Amino acid sequence: MKIPISLQINGEMYQVQVPVQKTLLAVLREDLALTGTKNGCDSGECGACTVLMDGRPVNSCLILAVDAVGKQITTIEGIGGIAELDPIQEALVAHGAIQCGYCTPGLVMTAKALLDSNPHPTETEVREGIAGNLCRCTGYVKVVEAIMDVSRH
Ligand code: FES
Ligand code: FES
Repeated sequence: MKIPISLQINGEMYQVQVPVQKTLLAVLREDLALTGTKNGCDSGECGACTVLMDGRPVNSCLILAVDAVGKQITTIEGIGGIAELDPIQEALVAHGAIQCGYCTPGLVMTAKALLDSNPHPTETEVREGIAGNLCRCTGYVKVVEAIMDVSRH
């Protein structure tokens, strides 16, 4: 059975009919075509699906869409685009910290939440902050450098 819900995503209201067991990740990708948020594991282990919920990073594969009602959801589409990249995206590009890119949207969202709450983190704090975002390609060194670079400005 589907129920009607309203979701606030990137400052816009969306009306969708969803089964109560459908995850926020699935609704973003399948119902709203917000496919910048990636599905890496669908089980809370990789961080590829990270979005911000009321400013805090969450794994959208672990959140039911019905539980996102009344929250402010921010996805990668809400913080930067090709025309104007977010400073974190710019820094990742500048540092060559993107390879396949599958982890990148989730990583950007986590880094944004980290820098919003702690604008000048130590390297250890950056590494701890992104620990839930798995990247099989980069080895993290350039990723950490890029986030530290943003924090210096
Ligand atoms: S897809 Fe959600 S944590 Fe991997
Ligand atoms: S760049 Fe490939 S998983 Fe991170």
